[in-house]
Amino acid sequence: MNQAICNNLESFVLDKGDFWEISCSAPSNIALVKYWGKDNARGPQIPSNPSLSFSLENCRTFAFFKVSKEEVKSPSFSFFFEGKASPTFEKKMRTWLTRLEEESECARNIWAFLSQRQVELHSMNTFPHSAGIASSASSYAAFAFCFWILGQRLLGKDSGAISWQEISTWARLGSGSACRSLFAGFTSWGQSNLIAHSSDYYANSLENVHSTFKDIRDCILIVDSQNKAVSSTQGHATMEKHPFKDERQQIVRQHFQMVLNALASGDWALLGQTIEQEALHMHAMMLSANPAYLLMKAASFNVINKIRAYRDSTKLPLYFTLDAGPNIHLLFPAEVEVQVMEFVREHLQSDLENGKWILDQVAAQSIKQESYFLE
Ligand code: DP6
Repeated sequence: MNQAICNNLESFVLDKGDFWEISCSAPSNIALVKYWGKDNARGPQIPSNPSLSFSLENCRTFAFFKVSKEEVKSPSFSFFFEGKASPTFEKKMRTWLTRLEEESECARNIWAFLSQRQVELHSMNTFPHSAGIASSASSYAAFAFCFWILGQRLLGKDSGAISWQEISTWARLGSGSACRSLFAGFTSWGQSNLIAHSSDYYANSLENVHSTFKDIRDCILIVDSQNKAVSSTQGHATMEKHPFKDERQQIVRQHFQMVLNALASGDWALLGQTIEQEALHMHAMMLSANPAYLLMKAASFNVINKIRAYRDSTKLPLYFTLDAGPNIHLLFPAEVEVQVMEFVREHLQSDLENGKWILDQVAAQSIKQESYFLE
């Protein structure tokens, strides 16, 4: 699907006289096999294990760059989140751009150019702040894309093809899971003998996916929207000296293989059982870390038990996964949506914070051209 926009790079850049304006949106993603732990000895943001996710159609970040074409006397670099200046995000962006500069000559040239210019970066999410959904994946994917497009413009190459691998690499340096958000549908990241051309540096689209998963739904059940006590980045760090580090590696690789088999053969039960085990295994790593911590809430357990009981009694294919947080992602095929959503409303909604859930589905397109900021 990404290829559909390959020949149209120029459409992402608006020439506004003294400025260029570049904008796009990128999707969030939900991992079925989790990236959990980094191999820091091998470089920044190198995953300890291969992971696999699908991108979400509706949970997106919109990004917008405004860059002066000519050098200015007082260069500036400011970041706005939902229209408001955000020094915290600005700091994160600078860290990312510095990392990028160390890794890529092209990024170095863009950074050198930007440091002489007036630059404004804007972003906003389609999902509410309070949804407990991490926005770093969709944000860095969108920013990496805009940044790369700017580079092509500077090099006078904006009629060429898009290098998804390079953009995915750039996004990874911002937030690991962001590298998977450059692709629609199912995506894997991390070197594995099971996938040709797989890499620790960038993600790839997963081709061998049975049609039964092509319309997979994800109902995000919001149990708690507060900021997490331990961030994912801190969580990755706890794996460095984790007592079950080796066991985790063995098990996550088994899960990876089983999920690949399930996706290829169209086996919902195998997929579902494996992703539930995988999500709980990652949370078990938190419980057994030193110091130990717990991100699931009582309501997370309630919801999980109800999902399992409902599945047992109805035999419907609905399964859950969790990110590094308390919220439950309920996955099921489109054809059972009506029944499953009835179950959510009647039996789960009372366990949710303000009764809140977000119904999403696998993304048909990753990066989209957006004019939201330009109107
Ligand atoms: C549980 O990509 O947020 O969502 O690379 O430090 O930014 P950093 O971490 P991040 O970790 C995501 C962890 C996860 C699993 C996953 O998405 O694979």
